[in-house]
Amino acid sequence: MLRYITRRRSVFPQFFTDQPIERTVIEDLIQAANLAPSHRKTEPWRFRVYQAAGRDQLKDELLKVYGREREDAGAVAEKFGKKIAQSAAVLLIFLHRDPQESVPEWEEIAAVGAAVENLWLSLDQYGLGGYWSSPGFVCGGYGAWPGAAANERCLGMFYLGYADAPDLPRPRGDWREKVHFVTEN
Ligand SMILES: Cc1cc2nc3c(=O)[nH]c(=O)nc-3n(C[C@H](O)[C@H](O)[C@H](O)COP(=O)(O)O)c2cc1C
Repeated sequence: MLRYITRRRSVFPQFFTDQPIERTVIEDLIQAANLAPSHRKTEPWRFRVYQAAGRDQLKDELLKVYGREREDAGAVAEKFGKKIAQSAAVLLIFLHRDPQESVPEWEEIAAVGAAVENLWLSLDQYGLGGYWSSPGFVCGGYGAWPGAAANERCLGMFYLGYADAPDLPRPRGDWREKVHFVTEN
């Protein structure tokens, strides 16, 4: 497992090839996500997968969320349209809040994060790359999304593609500064 954790990284759409992703591969990734832990087993992760011509619908929805009437809507459409076109698939990530609210919301957001990490860790095995993107206008408005249920919030998107990317360093701060061991009273 440590091998996959070490190799996991953000790979951006500019490094994706134009090879389509088989439906079965995406299903495997969602199954990996679905094995994430969740308090009271609420399993609060949901995904919407846009592939092939379905990507046009995503562009449309993004623009709707951003606001077509805004002055820079054209530039935003172009920026995101390019990344979407470069990706063989884009997943929208949703928090599906437990209707009974049996656990605090933060626990369910954390569980969605765990699910996305499972998916992310699984990419290397298929030669896929990708990354979690959370544009401010999606998450700043806290995830209202066309067609989403009232208890659902979009937590961003995951761009996916077969990747041909250079190995770049992924510096991290020293882990020793992020842990405090308590060994006696
Ligand atoms: C919840 C979440 C949201 C993120 N949103 C963005 C984003 O909007 N734009 C972006 O470039 N990267 C985004 N990232 C990816 C991080 O920038 C990336 O994970 C970080 O730089 C570490 O790089 P690595 O994934 O290669 O280890 C996001 C990551 C997480 C976990």
